[in-house]
Amino acid sequence: MGIKPGDEIVLNLIDNAFGGEAVGRVNNLVVFVPFAIKGETVKVRIRQKKRRMLFADLLEVIEPSPERTTPFCPNFGSCGGCQYQHINYPYQLEIFVKQLKDLLLRTGGFLELPEILPALPSPKTTRYRNRIDLHPAEDASGSPFYGFCKRMEPKTIFPLKECPIFALEDDFSALPMRMEDKLLVLRTHSGKPYYYFKDNHNLVCSGPFDYETSESLGDEDVFYDVGKLRFFNSYSGFFQVNPSLLEVFSKVVTDFAQPSESDLLLDIYCGAGFFGISLADKVKEVLGVEIDPSSIAYAKKNARANGLANCRYTADSAENYLRGLLEQGVKPDICILDPPRTGLTNKAVSAVKHLQPKRLIYISCGPPTFARDAAKFTDAGYLLSKIQPLDLFPHTKHFELISLFEWKGKGSGSPTKGALAEKEEAGSDFSCEAE
Ligand SMILES: C[S@@+](CC[C@H](N)C(=O)[O-])C[C@H]1O[C@@H](n2cnc3c(N)ncnc32)[C@H](O)[C@@H]1O
Repeated sequence: MGIKPGDEIVLNLIDNAFGGEAVGRVNNLVVFVPFAIKGETVKVRIRQKKRRMLFADLLEVIEPSPERTTPFCPNFGSCGGCQYQHINYPYQLEIFVKQLKDLLLRTGGFLELPEILPALPSPKTTRYRNRIDLHPAEDASGSPFYGFCKRMEPKTIFPLKECPIFALEDDFSALPMRMEDKLLVLRTHSGKPYYYFKDNHNLVCSGPFDYETSESLGDEDVFYDVGKLRFFNSYSGFFQVNPSLLEVFSKVVTDFAQPSESDLLLDIYCGAGFFGISLADKVKEVLGVEIDPSSIAYAKKNARANGLANCRYTADSAENYLRGLLEQGVKPDICILDPPRTGLTNKAVSAVKHLQPKRLIYISCGPPTFARDAAKFTDAGYLLSKIQPLDLFPHTKHFELISLFEWKGKGSGSPTKGALAEKEEAGSDFSCEAE
């Protein structure tokens, strides 16, 4: 008889899947188990069955992994934020490298793996986040509180008395309810805490306010210092969430880019200009594009504030802007791509392939979409030479990566299943002609 939801089974776990769960197999079905680790024997209860996959809840760890450790947050397991606090930190980094290899082989269809460097650890593994979003809720007696969504129950909010990965230590559940139904966004910049309110569509409703005094801060800019550079931003603008790793981050990007004084560098999805500005004194010119006009205003301000006169920024979609560069016959040497987690659209990939920069630095916080896009570049003639994973988000399933693609010419890119199939198809056409 088949396994069904509610059944309890014992499993040996054989892998750590991308997305945070460990994986076992039973009756030719794959079973995903949260809060477990490859190599463990566990007792689980099946929660859901979907085609050939089973999703289970962990009941008992019968044989623990030597990599298992005690979670440091009392909310771990019920909070949707962290997935890996039960795994020691060095092993979390090893897991990311293995997951990346699997994604390149399975999703990207790569036949040979590029050099994948050991994942860079975050200097801070607690109190590293500079931002949390708090949801308003009421307890059974009608008293308001702030909290986080429960894991797998996004409509249930639990009171957040502490979050050890956020920069500030406080009982956030007890913050005074200043705007009903609105989320309270708590952030720090260069050590200073502030907050503002936004609605469910991410539109800012009120703020910013000083965290200590609750006084209005007006439309004051915030700033982040990274090495010798200062980056201004609007109080609600996007900035990387883990400042402790940013100097190393921009150093790896610079090393991969191998900039020289005559180079034209494209900074696509540039936000407030972080990567382009970090490299600007080493190249001839930086052209940056970003869809959010407010971020572009800050990119311009940041270039000026850091004494750089060789950066030009445009508010536009990457797709339109890249097509425009192609029409103008622009020949970039280096192209940095840092898209959202959803990765690149086909239009963006196609335009970059035609612009044919010598070196492509693709930065990604979405490894599955990266693996998909990477194959498109290598099939066009780029060699994926190396990847540096970075743990920007310790104890969570997410990781960041920086990759280097080098132009080698059509047919000379990293081999993938897709390219091989194309070659075989072309070969069979040719042999038909020859006959
Ligand atoms: C991962 S962030 C990178 C920001 C920046 N590189 C940084 O490090 O601060 C992705 C950025 O892409 C922008 N974006 C999203 N879709 C876009 C598009 N189609 N064209 C241009 N920019 C886009 C977002 O506004 C966001 O700022």
